[in-house]
Amino acid sequence: MSKKKLVFSGVQPTGNLHLGNYLGALKNFVSLQKEMECIYCVVDLHAITSFQKPNELEDNVFETVASFLATGIDPNKSIIFNQSSVSGHAELAWILNCVSRIGWLNRMTQFKDKAGSDKEKASVGLYIYPNLMAADILLYKASHVPVGADQKQHLELCRDIAQKFNNDFNCEGFFPLPEPLIQKNVSRVMSLRDGNKKMSKSEESDYSRINLKDTTDEISKKIKKAKSDSEPIPQSLKGLEKKPEALNLVNIYSELSKSSLDKVLNEMSGKEYSFLKTKLAELLINEITPVGKEIKKLLNDKPYLKQVLKKGEEKANIIAEENLKNIREKVGLI
Ligand code: TYM
Repeated sequence: MSKKKLVFSGVQPTGNLHLGNYLGALKNFVSLQKEMECIYCVVDLHAITSFQKPNELEDNVFETVASFLATGIDPNKSIIFNQSSVSGHAELAWILNCVSRIGWLNRMTQFKDKAGSDKEKASVGLYIYPNLMAADILLYKASHVPVGADQKQHLELCRDIAQKFNNDFNCEGFFPLPEPLIQKNVSRVMSLRDGNKKMSKSEESDYSRINLKDTTDEISKKIKKAKSDSEPIPQSLKGLEKKPEALNLVNIYSELSKSSLDKVLNEMSGKEYSFLKTKLAELLINEITPVGKEIKKLLNDKPYLKQVLKKGEEKANIIAEENLKNIREKVGLI
């Protein structure tokens, strides 16, 4: 049984990465590099479960790699690659499609959200998306998976699939059961317009999110316009119950200022939200605009980005092929 600590995570190349991706996932990706071997994947096969224009998909793959690098993922420490360049993902996904159960997939809330009211029209790929995600993780026998809270259910499914494979093929411990690593306060960064919805690339209004490439001006405007509360900032978290937009702003501020929620409320209670917003905009500008500038700079050097992906692909393929050889053997595929 492999007891090695190995991190795997993925990000879809579907356009602008935002503050939710950054606080919920990317920042954690960067800090984990110090402790463990890490594999970070641009999951283009996941992206095409909803139609993507081919040239936009290609641009978005580069932009996602540039975002990985700009936030501090080091290609000399971590493996960075594009999912479709390692064919083992698709092959293992097929095997796991035969292990995973329809009843399990029927419970996936993200499919229900994404497919909307007309499920009959959703792609089959979107439905079996969580099996591909399990394949991504198990292909490398990853032990830890840093993600935002929205991916928790998919991770639980991955553990169920791994366990069933180990049972079915009588190989206890063959696939490790991966541990989700979910940030505490910022596991779900919410929309700046509606505190009950998570911040997402797909929400129509750009004012709902801070994009990593936003300028100083855009960040200031978006925070100024963000929904908050007409009452002053309360003394304790209890006062933020039923005020999801205000809670979201306080949470983001607490994370960026590295102060606990209690400390932030202590300092700010009685003040108007405009006070918090001014300070929050400053912190965001300091943290996000250098990342955005670096993304734009890196996007002007496609040969470098291609080189990073190529090197990652080669390293990922070596691990994937070795593991797939053993997986095929377990299943009885000659
Ligand atoms: P994706 O591309 O939607 O998002 C990438 C990462 O960002 C996190 N995230 C958030 N965290 C906090 N607040 C938010 N508002 C927010 N929005 C997004 C996501 O949880 C994720 O960690 N299915 C995955 C990609 C994937 C994957 C994998 C992840 C494919 N294979 C294997 C881990 C392991 C997804 O669609 O992430």
